[in-house]
Amino acid sequence: MFIKQIIAKSFRNFDDLNLELNDSRIFIKGVNGSGKTNILELVYFLSRCKPFKAHNEDALIKIGSNEANIYLKFEKDKEEHSISSIITKRKKVFAYDDEKVNKLTSIFGQLITISYIPKSVYLFKSEPAEKRSFIDEMCSMINYQYLETLQRYRKLLKERNQAFIKDYDQDIINVYAEQLIPLAKYIVCFRNQILEKINPLLQKYYSQMFGSSDIKLVYKTNCPLVEDESLFKEQMIKQFNDNKTNEHLKKQTLYGPHRDSFFVLIDGKDIASYGSQGQNRLATLSLNLAKKDIYSEFLHQEPILLLDDVISDLDEKRIISLLEAVKNSKQVIITGSTNSNLLKEYKTYEIQNGKIIKE
Ligand SMILES: Nc1ncnc2c1ncn2[C@@H]1O[C@H](COP(=O)(O)OP(=O)(O)O)[C@@H](O)[C@H]1O
Ligand SMILES: [Mg+2]
Repeated sequence: MFIKQIIAKSFRNFDDLNLELNDSRIFIKGVNGSGKTNILELVYFLSRCKPFKAHNEDALIKIGSNEANIYLKFEKDKEEHSISSIITKRKKVFAYDDEKVNKLTSIFGQLITISYIPKSVYLFKSEPAEKRSFIDEMCSMINYQYLETLQRYRKLLKERNQAFIKDYDQDIINVYAEQLIPLAKYIVCFRNQILEKINPLLQKYYSQMFGSSDIKLVYKTNCPLVEDESLFKEQMIKQFNDNKTNEHLKKQTLYGPHRDSFFVLIDGKDIASYGSQGQNRLATLSLNLAKKDIYSEFLHQEPILLLDDVISDLDEKRIISLLEAVKNSKQVIITGSTNSNLLKEYKTYEIQNGKIIKE
């Protein structure tokens, strides 16, 4: 998988950007505020149909314009494809291979990218919802049934919570619980299974960059972690029954994967509370590298790596380990403000005020 061209009209600080990429190793160089992250955001947006920050979509349109037009051409299995979007304040319209897309899930997974942005440093210090969304994106990407199950679960959960607000009979609430339980089991088991796959990879990448520390991603759930369907159901029903009053009081479903969280232990200590910024950075970077391997294994495609501003934050030894870790990737796009000798295999594109000034 390989990006060949990016076009942006009135997107963020780009008037009319046309970037042809013919290389597998790309370094986008520019001073702060020049638009490096905006390029990666464009790619992120087209691969996931949502921006980095979900609540601020209007800011994607260049100030003073009414709509943004973005287009990306990529190669996959030796065929060329494109994803594009027209973004207005009222709506976003997407097209795949120039045909309008009605169901966004049909684009999801076409262009596979891993993005490491500086904000990711705080992943393990962030709210459980943010951590769930990292895991969910990954599980959905490699397993379509997971994505569908999650969507059905969310819809039913909303209905069950509405039933509390509307003071429906316990019988109705129980019927919702019965329907939720098998979906909850699927989600919990798959998350757990993926975590088990991630852990050795996370350990491998983290030790390569940091040394001999012991790192572990731990799954925290209030659901039973049992494979047996009927045992899972029995234990969930018991939890719901034992906490009936509390659920009615809070007017919401208190048990299920929507309450899950994840944390990372380094040498037995939670990095959200005890880890340095450097440890947090390397942990999320290693987690993203682990994700890359999982995508390659499940999807038989090498994802495109987008690494925003990594070079300035890492010392030489770690940059070398990072570049070594991504050496089999078909395409790697790194941004930064200063070039490094270590990036001599990377083709440099210099950006200034939203314009490519030198290739
Ligand atoms: N909607 C927008 N319209 C115009 N400029 C924008 C918009 N959103 C962001 N910008 C500008 O984009 C620049 C930031 O670009 P960014 O890609 O974050 O820079 P960096 O090269 O530091 O990563 C800032 O100058 C900001 O003012
Ligand atoms: Mg930036």
